Amino acid sequence: MCGIVAYLGEKEAQPLLLHGLRRLEYRGYDSSGIAVVDRRGRLHVVKRKGRISELERVLGSCPLTGTLGISHTRWATHGIPSDANAHPHCDQSGRLALVHNGVIENYQNLRQKLLDLGHSFQSETDTEILAHLIGHYYDQLPEGDPDRLENAVRAALKEVIGTYGIAVIHADHPDLLIGARRGSPLILGIGLGEYFLSSDVTAVCVGAQKVVYLNDGDIVTIGRHSFHISSLLRDSVGFELSELELSEASAELGDYPHYMLKEIFEQPQAIRNAFRGRLDPEEGTAKLGGLHMSPHELLAIRRILIVGCGTARHAGIVGEYLLESLAHIPVEVDYASEFRYRNAPIDEKAILIAVSQSGETADTLAAIREAKRRGLRVLGICNRVGSSVARETDGGVYMHAGPEIGVAATKSFVSQILIFVLLALLLGRLRYLSVGQGRAILEAIERLPDQVDEILQKAGLIQEMAQRYKEVRGFLFLGRQYQLGVALEGALKMKEITYIQAEGHPAAELKHGILALVDENTPTVFLCPRDGVYEKNLSNLQEIKARRGSVIAIATEGDTQIAKLADDVIYVPEAPEFLLPILTVVPLQLLAYYIAVALGRDVDKPRNLAKSVTVE
Ligand code: AGP
Ligand code: GLU
Repeated sequence: MCGIVAYLGEKEAQPLLLHGLRRLEYRGYDSSGIAVVDRRGRLHVVKRKGRISELERVLGSCPLTGTLGISHTRWATHGIPSDANAHPHCDQSGRLALVHNGVIENYQNLRQKLLDLGHSFQSETDTEILAHLIGHYYDQLPEGDPDRLENAVRAALKEVIGTYGIAVIHADHPDLLIGARRGSPLILGIGLGEYFLSSDVTAVCVGAQKVVYLNDGDIVTIGRHSFHISSLLRDSVGFELSELELSEASAELGDYPHYMLKEIFEQPQAIRNAFRGRLDPEEGTAKLGGLHMSPHELLAIRRILIVGCGTARHAGIVGEYLLESLAHIPVEVDYASEFRYRNAPIDEKAILIAVSQSGETADTLAAIREAKRRGLRVLGICNRVGSSVARETDGGVYMHAGPEIGVAATKSFVSQILIFVLLALLLGRLRYLSVGQGRAILEAIERLPDQVDEILQKAGLIQEMAQRYKEVRGFLFLGRQYQLGVALEGALKMKEITYIQAEGHPAAELKHGILALVDENTPTVFLCPRDGVYEKNLSNLQEIKARRGSVIAIATEGDTQIAKLADDVIYVPEAPEFLLPILTVVPLQLLAYYIAVALGRDVDKPRNLAKSVTVE
C-alpha cells in the first residue's frame, strides 16, 4: 500500500506535498515523510512514525524550503512502523532519496550484494535496498552522462523482482524528478509550469489539469519544462493525456463527521449513478457498452468466474445468485488471492469478472493477469477511472460512485450489486426473461434510491440501538440466498471498524456448529426480509431465542410477526428479493458505524488497515 506524492515546479513543494499526503492517507497511515532539495542543492529529509498530523507538527516549527520534493504515507510491509523505517529512504551517499509503494521481493539477495560492496543500512525495509541499489549504479556511471540518474534507476530496476511505484530525487539534480512503476499505481499530473507524481489523482488536483496514467514498466523523467516517458519493457512508448475529472479528484468531507457516514448517505446517488444511461425501457434490458461484447458473444458465455477481495467478493457472492437465477449461467465466486494460485480448470466459454472499488488491489490484479494468461476474456467492475483494473481488462462497467475514502467500503458495495443486477438482466434478456419481466425489473431498480433514502431516515433509531449493543463480546450475522453476501458484509463492517469479533454465515449453518457461540453477550443480526426463504429463517431465529440469544432482525416493512420474536427490528421497504441486498446492507453499515463511534474508534482509518491493498 502506501501513498506517494512528488512535486517539481515553481511553488514551494512542502505545502503541496502535505496536502497530497492528506488525500492519500487512506492508502496507509502508520508513518510518513518528506524529502526536499533546496535552492542550494541540499537534500533535507524529515520522517515520523504516526499520522500525517505528526509530520505536519514537526514541519510546522521547521519547514523545508525548495521546489522539488517527494513524500510518502506508509502502510508497513517490511519492518515495523518507526521513524527509521518511514520513507523517504536515502542511498549510501545520503544524496539520493526515494519513496516506494510495493514490495521488493528479492531484497534479501540485493541486500547481501550491497553489504558485500560495503553498504550499511538504517532501516529494515526493502525500500532502502532499492535506494542503495540506484545509488550504487549512479556511482558507477560517468559524471558526464546527461541521463545519469535515469540510467541508474533503469539499471537498478532491471535487477528488481517485485512491485513498485517510486519517485526519486538527487541533490546533484535540483531540476529532476524521476518516477517508475510496475504493479503499483503511479500517475503523472501536469499543471502550468509544474508536475506531480502520485499514487492517485486526488493528490494532484491542487495544480494538475491533465494526467497521464503510467503503464507497468514506465519510467518518467521530469525536468522543469518538459518530461519524457520510456519503458523498461517496450522499445517505444505512447501515452495518453487525460483531462483531470474533478468528480474523480474531489473528496471533501463537508458537514459529515466521517467519510464513512458521508459515503453511506451518498448511496442513493451512487445507485442512480450506476444505472444512469444504462436502462433501456423499450427493450426491458440494460445497456452496458463498456463490455465491448456483441449479443452473439454474450450468448456464448457458458460459465462466469467472479473474483474480488473483502467487500468486493461479498458483492460477487450476491452477483452469483443474481446471474444464476436471472440468466441461468453457472457462476463461481473466489477470493482473488486463491484463484491466482489454485489452478482452476477453465474453458474458453467462461469469462472472468473482477470486482474492485479501487481497481488497484494487487490480489485482484494478479487474478486478472492469470486469467488473461490462460486465454479468458476478463471484465472489470470498478470505480476508479483509469485504474489498473480498468486498463488491464478487456471490457467492463464503471461504478461512477465517486471517491470512496473511508477504509470501510459502503457505497461501492451497493454500486457493485447494482451492476450485477444490470449484467444479469442483460444476459437474462438474451436468454430467458421476457420484455415484460425485464421492464418490471427496471421499474424496481428505479425505486431503489428513494427506498435507500427511507432507510437512511432511521439513522437516529440505529444510533440509539448502537448504545445498547456496543459492549457485547461478539456478533453473528446470518442470512440465506441473496442475503448471504450481506451477512458476510455486515460482519466485515462490524469487525473492521469496531474491532468487535463478528462472523457472517448462511443461516442454516447455525445448527452445524455456530449455535455454540450464542449466549446473552453475543447477539445475532438476522437478515430475514420477506423472500423465498423467510419461513426457514424464522425457524432459525427461534432456535437462537431458545438459547437466550438476542436478535436484531432486518425485516420487511409491515412484518408484525417478526416484531414478536426479535429483540429489535429494523425495517426495510419491500422490493423483489434479488434487489433486497441493496437495502438490507444499509442498516448494517449504520449499526457498525454508530457502534464504532460510541466506542471511540477511528472510523475512517481503523487500526492495521489501509483502503487500497496494493501488495499481495
Ligand atoms: C472493505 O470494507 C475493506 N476495507 C476491504 O475488504 C476491501 O473491500 C478490499 O480490500 C477490496 O478492495 P477493492 O474493492 O478496492 O479491490
Ligand atoms: N515495502 C515498503 C515498506 O514496507 C512499502 C510498503 C507498501 O507499499 O505497502 O515500507
